[in-house]
Amino acid sequence: MILRIRTYPDPVLRRRAVPVEGVDERIRRLLDDMLETMYAAPGIGLAAPQVGESLRVIVADVSEEKNAPLRMVNPEITWRSQTTAVAEEGCLSLPEIYGEVERPEAVEVRYLDETGAERTLRAEGLLARCLQHEIDHLDGVLFVDRLSPVRRSVLLRRYGKLRRQRTPAKV
Ligand code: NI
Repeated sequence: MILRIRTYPDPVLRRRAVPVEGVDERIRRLLDDMLETMYAAPGIGLAAPQVGESLRVIVADVSEEKNAPLRMVNPEITWRSQTTAVAEEGCLSLPEIYGEVERPEAVEVRYLDETGAERTLRAEGLLARCLQHEIDHLDGVLFVDRLSPVRRSVLLRRYGKLRRQRTPAKV
């Protein structure tokens, strides 16, 4: 089922998401629905708060063929590389704005998979960036928060303007 993607300034995006206590049918359904929603958007990652669920759940797929879905419950970054990289990011919850974000180039993430088994993944490049972006969502952090204050306010002003254009006044 395709879920409705919440966009800024929806308050759910600023809430700290709570850990999942048990990976059950409901969580597996949420993971599958989030992947379907992400592919349809289209996007390369999605966090549960973006579909209105304040739970520590993310999905991602950075493959060209869109055949490498990742389902992560309670993901935690357990290691970050000292070297960083700068690249442009966007977000399905902040449509049409993009900014250059500096992040560690590689990370290690510990999480539970869809069966509840504990796993560790070492990621670099685009996947590392994507996972850091999605895990930020679980703490109520958006990519614009990682920009300079000046850059952030320029982008959010542009976003506000675009948003008003997209939403016609109700009469
Ligand atoms: Ni995002």
